[in-house]
Amino acid sequence: MSVRHFTDLSAVSAGDLRVMLDDAVARKTRLKAGERSKPLDGKVLAMIFDKPSTRTRVSFDVGMRQLGGETIMLTGTEMQLGRSETIADTAKVLSRYVDAIMIRTTSHDRLLELTENATVPVINGLTDDTHPCQLMADIMTYEEHRGPVAGKTFAWTGDGNNVLHSLLEASARFRFNLNVAVPEGSEPFEKYVDWSKANGGKVRFSRSAEEAVDQADCVVTDSWVSMGQEHRARGHNVFLPYQVNAALMAKAKSDALFMHCLPAHRGEEVTDEVIDGPHSVVFDEAENRLHAQKAVLAWCLGA
Ligand code: CP
Ligand code: NVA
Repeated sequence: MSVRHFTDLSAVSAGDLRVMLDDAVARKTRLKAGERSKPLDGKVLAMIFDKPSTRTRVSFDVGMRQLGGETIMLTGTEMQLGRSETIADTAKVLSRYVDAIMIRTTSHDRLLELTENATVPVINGLTDDTHPCQLMADIMTYEEHRGPVAGKTFAWTGDGNNVLHSLLEASARFRFNLNVAVPEGSEPFEKYVDWSKANGGKVRFSRSAEEAVDQADCVVTDSWVSMGQEHRARGHNVFLPYQVNAALMAKAKSDALFMHCLPAHRGEEVTDEVIDGPHSVVFDEAENRLHAQKAVLAWCLGA
């Protein structure tokens, strides 16, 4: 069997993604019931972080431990990577020691180079372009609260960033509608929009957050300035019309969910009354990173 990498939702079949989500739900149920199986006993996951992280770092670490495995935490700067050893050579060396590699890095090409040269599974823990693990947790969270996501309408308002790119891929893979409102100059990369549309995604764009959110089943936003994107940061007044506040949330369906991958910048992309309010499921999303990623690890490692 070829190596199972988890680089992007577009790189994994819809069927396999659904298998992982079902497995995530089952693992969560078993964990809550006190069951402790150790299918990854003796396995080691190397985790490389070129950017900060709270959720990804802790959830992968705890997830591996719950599955019976172990982790090695690495940062690019303390490795020879930081002294210009290539990603390709690093991939070949790590593959001789560990059973899987999770990487959070800058350019998507670094992830792909690692994947092309590793002989063990590589998992994308966020790049400048995408954040697929987040979307696995988000779809799991939506379905826990509201049932099947297929045919529902999600609305994204704010910056067109890595989380939106994975949301675009998710909309095609899981068959939901996606309304996107971003200011001029913050559009998502065309290749993600094109891929989604070519694969059955129903994506609509608007400059108006109100229009995008109108009668939506789920409203999603994220930081206006992503990690490493500070150079392209613009005045917050550009993004203010895209803030998720109570007035905007009121345009969505009355039982709409509010999602945010966290960390949140309260008072910027979302107000306290929304993120702490009755629509918000942000801490369920954070928790489900753990369960969804355990399913990703099990899928990658055949456990
Ligand atoms: N949502 C998310 O990936 O959070 P961290 O940056 O804390 O890992
Ligand atoms: N778009 C954000 C997500 C953080 C989890 C970033 O890349 O900084």
